Amino acid sequence: MSDNSNSNNNNSIDHTKNVLVEKHISYVVNLDNKKEEDFEYWVTEHLRMNGMYWGLTSLYILKALDKMDRDVIINWVLSCQKSNGGFSGNVSHDEHLLSTLSAVQILMQLDALDRLDQDLVAKYVLSLQQEDGSFFGDKWGEVDTRFTYCAVSCLSLMGKLDLLDNNRIEKIADFINRCKNFDAGYGCIPGAESHAGQTFTCVGALAIINRLDLIDRDQLGWWLCERQLPNGGLNGRPEKTSDVCYSWWVVSALSVIDRLHWIDNEKLRNYILKCQDNETGGIADKPGNVPDVFHTFFGLCGFSLMSYFDMEEIDPTYALGTKTLLKYNIKLPWNKKL
Ligand code: FPP
Ligand code: ZN
Repeated sequence: MSDNSNSNNNNSIDHTKNVLVEKHISYVVNLDNKKEEDFEYWVTEHLRMNGMYWGLTSLYILKALDKMDRDVIINWVLSCQKSNGGFSGNVSHDEHLLSTLSAVQILMQLDALDRLDQDLVAKYVLSLQQEDGSFFGDKWGEVDTRFTYCAVSCLSLMGKLDLLDNNRIEKIADFINRCKNFDAGYGCIPGAESHAGQTFTCVGALAIINRLDLIDRDQLGWWLCERQLPNGGLNGRPEKTSDVCYSWWVVSALSVIDRLHWIDNEKLRNYILKCQDNETGGIADKPGNVPDVFHTFFGLCGFSLMSYFDMEEIDPTYALGTKTLLKYNIKLPWNKKL
């Protein structure tokens, strides 16, 4: 492990061997500072709630959450809630499950979940469940296992999973199971190709509803560890190139099924290190590319899941800090350290 106690602001620091902690902090904080002159920042304007969650949780991992303006963020998040309980990705957009989960995750990290009418949020989430157990992402009716994950995670984080009776839970488990393929990976709907991102959502949702028994851990572990390429990075599907965000989607799923040791952790860490931007801070999808907050967050998550360097621990199921979850008395049976 390398010594990061020297100044990370020195451009001569070798980013292939060191986590550029100070630079990543300043990269994320400055994304936020740009808002006055450039409203359309952090990927795109309508995704700002997700962007805020990625940035804030990056700072949590780097132990720098205090660098953000807590009150401004809480007020902005609350201003994105609609009368039906759902949250939009930004003030003038429509509500969606993706931004609703991010809003709950942000408020938890800022100790402000009590500012929310959680019953109303839960009502919105429940309203999107369909007869076959799947969830719409919003009123327009797209179905995807991402939305199943968002729904169960959101309810569980608010301590409201018991609003799903046995029948509804059974249907969720059945829908996820129907998205499982012959190779043990999961797709976005029944019959869709296995994808590591969707596999994270299905494994995470099954963990939250306590149905990990539906997974053949060895078979899935095998498909997941086949995602590691000779350069150490991970891809999301066969024949694709490596991308830092799979350091979350693949590694989190491997962690939950207790197979993280099936990939070469050191080679993956070295791949993520190479994707850091030595000048601006931030992490890109591939070495030499321009960094963004999405890959910065998932690269840091990869380091954290592999217990690299002195970072806060992130939970592989909820994608939130272990300390945050324990503060809210959320049970984490898959965490062997607790
Ligand atoms: C890959 O996307 C990732 C997925 C399909 C999973 C996305 C999951 C969520 C949004 C649920 C919430 C997640 C968290 C961490 C709380 P991609 O479009 O980048 O895939 P590609 O590499 O095939 O383009
Ligand atoms: Zn990516």
